Parts: sequence; C-alpha cells; structure tokens
Amino acid sequence: MSLSRLDKLIALNCNVSRKEAREIIKEGKVNVNGRLILRAEELIDTMLDEVSVKGFDFTLKNHIYIMLNKPAGVITATKDENKKTVIDLIPPELSRKSLFPCGRLDKDTTGLLLLTDDGDMCHRIVSPNHCIYKTYIAVLSRPLESADIKKIESGIILKDGTKCMPAKVRYFTDDYSYFAEIKISEGKYHQVKRMFAAAGNHVDKLKRIQIGNLKLDDSLAEGQCREITKEELQLIFE
Ligand code: URA
Repeated sequence: MSLSRLDKLIALNCNVSRKEAREIIKEGKVNVNGRLILRAEELIDTMLDEVSVKGFDFTLKNHIYIMLNKPAGVITATKDENKKTVIDLIPPELSRKSLFPCGRLDKDTTGLLLLTDDGDMCHRIVSPNHCIYKTYIAVLSRPLESADIKKIESGIILKDGTKCMPAKVRYFTDDYSYFAEIKISEGKYHQVKRMFAAAGNHVDKLKRIQIGNLKLDDSLAEGQCREITKEELQLIFE
C-alpha cells in the first residue's frame, strides 16, 4: 500500500500546482475507481486505485525519477542566483517544484545524475549504509601503479586523514591517456579526485557512468534527460 493525498497526486501527474490541482478537483473533473471525488485530501492508494482526470492523460505514479546526462559547467543545486543548475536543464513536461538532485556531482563532473521528488529513495541511493556502488571513469594525468590500485582498493587514506571505504578500480590506457574505472559506495566531498590525489595522481576529467546496475543511457546527449522506468529504478538496488 502506498497512500498519498489526491491533490498532491494530481499536481504530480498532471504537472500543475497544488492550488490548480484543488481547483480541478472542485470542478468535478476527477474520478477515483469510477466515482466522482470532490475532496482534495482523499487518500489514494497509488498501487490499487485508478485515478482519471478530464483533459489529462497519465499513468498514475506517486514519485518522479529522472536520469540526466549532466554536462560540465552546471552546478548540482536546486537554485542559484548566478549559476546554471541541473534543475534548469529539466524540460517543463518533467519539471516539478519538489524535484531535487539525488546526490551531488562537481561542477566539472559529467554523466549520470538522478533527480527525484522521493526523499526516502534518494536516501537509500546515497547513504553509504546501503552500499550502492557509483561507477566513474576518471581520466588521469599519470599512469596508475599497481601499488596505488591496491591502496585504493583496500581503503585509501585521504590527505586530511579521512579513511575511505574499499573501492574497486580497473586501470586502462590508450595511446594518449590514462583511465581508471572506479566504483565507490560513499559520496564524500570531491571523493574520487581526492582518492587519486592521495595516490599521487590527478583527475583531469571525471564522468559518472553507473549507479548500482543502472547505466547512463548513452543515447542521451550531455544536458539531456528522461524519466526512468520502475524496472530501471530497481536496477539501482540489484
Ligand atoms: N567524486 C568527485 O571527486 N567528484 C564528483 O563529482 C563525484 C565524485
């Protein structure tokens, strides 16, 4: 069972404000399981109840989950006076007042960022207690020695003395660059950059490509986003 107020659900599913949702209800446009409902505070079970609203077409949901391919130069925040935020990249049809980024990527980091209005789900994804691995590709300025990989994999100590949890590292090169794929299950400030700095290296570029088993959709250009399905959401926890 997943209960939610009718006006809140209509606001989310029809992309209108709460006030507009209450007006829609008052105007007699809302049916629940085939019955006209006029009470904004009516509790709806989003797993069982069928809600229809005249003039709107939707499949009922009680939260929204969006995958964004974050470009560099945009900050992970809900609003800022001067700088462009990830919320500014969400098109009106997906935008909701209650939307916030789930976790944080640095301004110059690109790749997979989730945005949602579901605080509990976000906590499950970002809290280190739930051990959800986030996978990044780092472009390094120098080759990575196997002794450094071992340090990172066994829990490296940052320059300020903070001990990191064990991470997983795969190192590879091409003719021009040095790369590391790194999986971490916590999200300390600038963590990946600081881990490689503690190993005497430097991250020139960083991209997040996966959260749990959910991969960044590579058909999304930088700056593009889309809603994810329930099945994709589950991949995070598998
Ligand atoms: N680690 C970093 O250093 N930066 C990010 O944006 C994410 C993880």
